[in-house]
Formats: sequence, structure tokens, C-alpha cells
Amino acid sequence: MNETLNLLKTRRSVAPHLLGEPGPSPAEIQTLVTIAARVPDHGRLVPWRFIAIEGEARFRVGEVIARVFRADNPSASEETLAFERQRLARAPLVIAVVSRATPHVKIPEWEQVLSAGAACMSLVIAANAMGYATSWITEWYAFDRRVLEALGLAPSERIAGFVHIGRAKEAPAERPRPALSDILTHL
Ligand SMILES: Cc1cc2nc3c(=O)[nH]c(=O)nc-3n(C[C@H](O)[C@H](O)[C@H](O)COP(=O)(O)O)c2cc1C
Repeated sequence: MNETLNLLKTRRSVAPHLLGEPGPSPAEIQTLVTIAARVPDHGRLVPWRFIAIEGEARFRVGEVIARVFRADNPSASEETLAFERQRLARAPLVIAVVSRATPHVKIPEWEQVLSAGAACMSLVIAANAMGYATSWITEWYAFDRRVLEALGLAPSERIAGFVHIGRAKEAPAERPRPALSDILTHL
């Protein structure tokens, strides 16, 4: 089987806490985003954009995540807050994929959102092909407007995914996949 098919057929996520240094270089980040921006995009609306979060920036945003968490959970322990603080600092690089879907006369918002999801998947596959492991997750802060504002999102923008990227500290075990007979119909 060729390399691309094999990668797609055996792909697995690696949890963020199992993603170590080194992360992608600046040139590799540019390649990743160039590839992600090649996804099908009905009407060429470019209904997505990317925020690369690395180094100290991971902790700056983490401070906001922890502050928002404490505001909503005043009795949270220091341990829990420490965990919230390092949400985006588990992997060396997190690329936030921002959906910019908006009402359009011809292109349904649903299609624009799907395009942003496709951009997440392209990032995942491209990073895997470079030898990095990945995790496409959202978690609670992806839906919190206070955190999104700190990330610079406009009120109309949403997070399609935080794609965590790094070297796998350990290989993930295989997990059960749906039987084709349950998901594939031929007409
Ligand atoms: C939009 C989206 C959001 C996700 N958010 C989370 C999440 O917050 N936490 C999580 O554990 N998995 C999340 N996942 C699932 C992981 O990406 C991954 O599929 C899962 O950990 C199973 O691993 P696998 O990809 O190797 O099957 C999300 C997937 C998608 C498509």
C-alpha cells in the first residue's frame, strides 16, 4: 500500500500530554498552514484562519483559561487551576483553527463550517506525514467567549479545533473502529 494510504488507514490521535518537543519549525508551520488552506472551499470564501500558539504564548492564554475557570468555579483547587493553566502547553505547538462562517446569499454556513473541519483534518494529516503526532480537540474553553476574546476572535468566529502537534512520547494503541457493515450502504 502506498505511504499516503497507509498513513490514513492507520492514523491515530495521541493525547496532548503525550506530545513532546520538538514541535514543527517555523518553516514547517508555514507548510502546514499552506496545506490546510488547500481544503475544498465553496465560493472561495476562505471561511477559516489559523492561530499558531507556541512558547510563552501557550501560558499567556493558559492564564486566561485558568482565570475564567476560577471565576466559574470559585472553589477550584490550586491543582485543578494548575491543570487549566497548562491546557495549551502540553504540546509544543497548538494551531487553533478558527471558523469564520457567516451568512452568505449562496453558500450555506454549514458548508463553510465543514470546510473549517476539513482544514483541521488536513493539518492533522500533514503534521502526521511530517512525523509529528497530533490531537484535534476542542475542550470547554473552545466554547467560552471570554477565552475566545483573549485569543482575538471576533464575536462571529468560532473554534473548529485546537490541533495539538508534537513528537509522540509513546505510540498509541489501536482502538476499535466501526464495522463497515454499520456505516457503508451501497445503492
Ligand atoms: C471537532 C472535534 C472536537 C474534538 N474534541 C475532543 C475533545 O475535546 N476531547 C477529546 O478527548 N477528544 C476530542 N475529539 C476527538 C479526538 O480528536 C480523537 O478523535 C479521539 O481522541 C480518538 O482518537 P483517534 O482519532 O485516534 O480515534 C474531537 C474531535 C473532533 C472532530
